[in-house]
Amino acid sequence: MKKILLFASGTGSNVENILKYFKINNEIEVVSVFSNNPKALVLAVAAHHNVPTYVFDKEGLTDGRVLNKLLTLRPDLIVLAGFLWKMPEQIVQQYSNKIINIHPALLPKYGGKGMYGMNVHESILTNGEVETGITIHYVNEHYDEGTYILQRSVGIEDCSTAQEIAAKVQALEHLYFPQVIEQLLKSLP
Ligand code: GRF
Repeated sequence: MKKILLFASGTGSNVENILKYFKINNEIEVVSVFSNNPKALVLAVAAHHNVPTYVFDKEGLTDGRVLNKLLTLRPDLIVLAGFLWKMPEQIVQQYSNKIINIHPALLPKYGGKGMYGMNVHESILTNGEVETGITIHYVNEHYDEGTYILQRSVGIEDCSTAQEIAAKVQALEHLYFPQVIEQLLKSLP
């Protein structure tokens, strides 16, 4: 079995989508959902799917406790699905080319610190962009700067609110994120 470990901070629609996608897979399983937010809805989503969860604080992320937990669970791929904190260098180095993130825009546009969730879509609306999309990329020490794995775009000329843009982007995320995860895991030895 290849193991996926998910990190998330919020609602968890991507986590739920990934859990459903791999539920009936004999070669790939989600071993745990890690969250920095004890109130995150994603924890209930994981519990509903009988996937163990682990909640940590800023200290735990940087003092080696999260890393120790990862070393115990031995994931083949770490997937950030709406995770809002920066991954510390010790974890990024330990799991080089094994951590991926999804960003709800076409990087390098609308990336970097503060560019998350509705902030992204509101900026895109304000700037009158005609298209947006998703970027799935490897994680390095800097926000949104690792090598790109996949980008997909969508026209938004018909959108007049940030919520409409968000819905189009979320549809792309739900379609492509599990497929990319599956392909990456299948390409591992
Ligand atoms: C997604 O838009 C993802 O791209 C971003 O955070 C959002 C998470 O949404 N990084 P959800 O919690 O999966 O619903």
